[in-house]
Amino acid sequence: MTLENKNIIITGATAGIGKQAAFFLAKKRANLIFIGRNKNKSMKIIDSINSLNPSIKAEFFYADLSLQSHIARVFFDIKSKYKSIDILINNAGAIFSKRQMTKEGIEKTFALNHMGYFSLAKLIIGIMDKKINSRIINVASAAHLSGKINFSDLFIEKKYGFGWKAYAQSKLCNILFTYQLSKLLYSTKITVNCLHPGLVNTDFGNNNSFIFSNSFKLVKNLYGINEKKGAETINFLASDIQVANETGGYFVKKKKTHSSKISESIDLQKKLWDTSEEIFQRLCK
Ligand SMILES: NC(=O)c1ccc[n+]([C@@H]2O[C@H](COP(=O)([O-])OP(=O)(O)OC[C@H]3O[C@@H](n4cnc5c(N)ncnc54)[C@H](OP(=O)(O)O)[C@@H]3O)[C@@H](O)[C@H]2O)c1
Repeated sequence: MTLENKNIIITGATAGIGKQAAFFLAKKRANLIFIGRNKNKSMKIIDSINSLNPSIKAEFFYADLSLQSHIARVFFDIKSKYKSIDILINNAGAIFSKRQMTKEGIEKTFALNHMGYFSLAKLIIGIMDKKINSRIINVASAAHLSGKINFSDLFIEKKYGFGWKAYAQSKLCNILFTYQLSKLLYSTKITVNCLHPGLVNTDFGNNNSFIFSNSFKLVKNLYGINEKKGAETINFLASDIQVANETGGYFVKKKKTHSSKISESIDLQKKLWDTSEEIFQRLCK
């Protein structure tokens, strides 16, 4: 589909996969709405987009997406400037090798990687046109394959280890959430899909200790694909006519693929939805 003048929100576009997707969307002449926590980095990218083509509209909105209060405020800011949003790309995410809690009392991986996606989507749906093809794209990961979800220890107080358990759980949440939301929106023209971008040589993991980030760098250098290639499935889901009516899918290398057995559990999809809704109502409304 043509992206010309479509209003597209993208999170995590200051680096890595999100940054490459932003350049792709800009070349398609979409209006870009960046949500991020680093104004300088965002403005540099907006400047380089505008140096390619000054007529591209790209705007930055500030939010730390691990905080529900920031999501509520940024939605208000966006809503006061944009009547409707055509595409939401939930991409900002991280792994934390040391367990951290946000000041709102949520474990940080769950807060950023799952609640960040959940609450932003819930709010943005309110300003999406339900009668024309609008798209929600959630960047998940093959890490979900080792993910489990334990509702009595959602914030991983037990055996946090080096962060993988929390990360894999959060990426499983991205898929459970995608499946549940796609069902809830089935009677509309809003599609909801998620994807694994591949192992991509980005800054991912570099926010951690020297040993952790260097071990990650080694793996990414040896086996990772480049960032441009890593953005291809996001770009495909945002722009391709083939997926205009496709919803509730998990995509790898632009192909719809099976996700883990656990992610297909209707009970878990519903339970995660209800739990997230409770956090959203408490902190984000
Ligand atoms: N790289 C991989 O191999 C891989 C594989 C599978 C899935 N993924 C997923 O792909 C997505 C993008 O990762 P990437 O590899 O491109 O990583 P990256 O290069 O580290 O980029 C992460 C992006 O998220 C933003 N971000 C992090 N914390 C934030 C916060 N609290 N509030 C707002 N924005 C925040 C970062 O902004 P700052 O510039 O402010 O830090 C950055 O723009 C993630 O969801 C990740 O789980 C990556």
